[in-house]
Amino acid sequence: MTVTHNDNETIIGRAEINDIDAILAIPTHDPNEIAHIVKNNADSIFTWDYSLSRPALRKLYEKAKVGQWNATTDLPWDTDVDVEKTVAEDQALIGTGIDPTIYIGTPVEKWDDKQWLEFGVESRNWILSQFMHGEQGALLCTAKIVETVPWYDAKLYASTQVVDEARHVEVFARYLEEKLGGRYQINSHLRMLLDDIVNDSRWDMTYLGMQVMVEGLALAAFGFMHQFTGEPLLKKLLRYVMSDEARHVAFGVLSLQEVYSSLTDVEMKDRQEFAFEAAIRLRDRFMQQEVWERMGVPVRDVVPLVLQDPTRTVFQSMLFSKIVPNCKKLGLLDRNDKWLRHRFEEMGVIQFEDWEDTGEEYLKFELGDEAPAAV
Ligand SMILES: [Fe+2]
Ligand SMILES: [Fe+2]
Repeated sequence: MTVTHNDNETIIGRAEINDIDAILAIPTHDPNEIAHIVKNNADSIFTWDYSLSRPALRKLYEKAKVGQWNATTDLPWDTDVDVEKTVAEDQALIGTGIDPTIYIGTPVEKWDDKQWLEFGVESRNWILSQFMHGEQGALLCTAKIVETVPWYDAKLYASTQVVDEARHVEVFARYLEEKLGGRYQINSHLRMLLDDIVNDSRWDMTYLGMQVMVEGLALAAFGFMHQFTGEPLLKKLLRYVMSDEARHVAFGVLSLQEVYSSLTDVEMKDRQEFAFEAAIRLRDRFMQQEVWERMGVPVRDVVPLVLQDPTRTVFQSMLFSKIVPNCKKLGLLDRNDKWLRHRFEEMGVIQFEDWEDTGEEYLKFELGDEAPAAV
C-alpha cells in the first residue's frame, strides 16, 4: 500500500499537510461560547468479571492511589508571580521561540523589546490555556473510558485518572485566573481533535486519541516548560502534573498493546489513520493563530513563515518525542506497508522512534524523584 495524497484529503481534509489556506480556513473558536455539545456514540459496558486479570494495570492503579496530591494544599499559591519578569527571564534563557530574521516584510521584523515581551506573555497565556482545555478533554475522555472499556482492571485505573484530570483542570484554570489574569479560547484544531475522540464509538479510539496522542504530546510539552521555567509555582505545578501524566500515557500504551496485537490489517489501518489525523491536528494548533491576531499581525502573512522557522520546527518536532516511540511499541508504525512511518517521516518526527516508550518510563516520573529530561 502506498501513501497517496487522496489519503490526506479524506483523513485531514487537505492533500498537502502544509496547505496554509486550508489550515487557516478553520475559523478561530468563538470566545463567547459557554457550552459545547458533542455526541458520545459509545456503549456503556458493565463487566461481571471482577478477577485481577491484568496485573500491569492493577500496578498502575496502586501507584495512582498513593500518588494523589491536593492542588489546594500542595502547591505554593501564595507565590507572587510577576508575569513580565518571569517571561523575560525565560526568554533570556531559551529565546522567544522565534527567529526574527525569518519574518522579513511582516510587522514582526520591526518589533522592539517591549513587543517581544508582550508576545512572550501572550504566548505563555495561550499555551497554558490550551493545556487547560486539553485537560478538560482528558477529563471527559477518561470518564468515558470508565464506562466503555470492558475490563475491570482498566475501569478501576481510569477512575483514578478522572480525579487526576479534575486536578489538572483545576491547577491550570487557577494559575491562569490568579497569576496571568486572562485566558484564550480553545484552539479550533485542538477542539476538532477532542470532538473526534469523544465522538468515536470504539473504546480503543478514546485511548489512542487521548492517552497516546494528546497526553503523549502534553507530557513532552510539560516537560519542556518545566525544564526551562524559573517561575517556582509553575515549575512545581508542572512537576506534579507530569507525575500523573506519565501514568496516563502508560495506561494507554499498556492497554492498547493487548488490543492491537490481534487486530487485522484493515482494523489497524483505521487506527493508523486516526493517529495521523491526531498528529496533524496537534501540529496545526502550533501556529498560534489567536496570538498573532491579538498582536495585530496579519495571520496569513506570518503563518507560512512560522512553518519555515527552524527554531519552531526543532521545538515542535520535539513534542512528538513521546508519541512516536509509543506508536512504535503499539505496532502502529509499520503495519500496512509502513503507512504511519511514512506519514511521520513526512512530518519530520520519525527520528524519535527508538526513544524510550512510556510503558515503563512512567516510574521515573514519580514524585520525590527528579523529573527526567523532557527531550
Ligand atoms: Fe492531565
Ligand atoms: Fe492526563
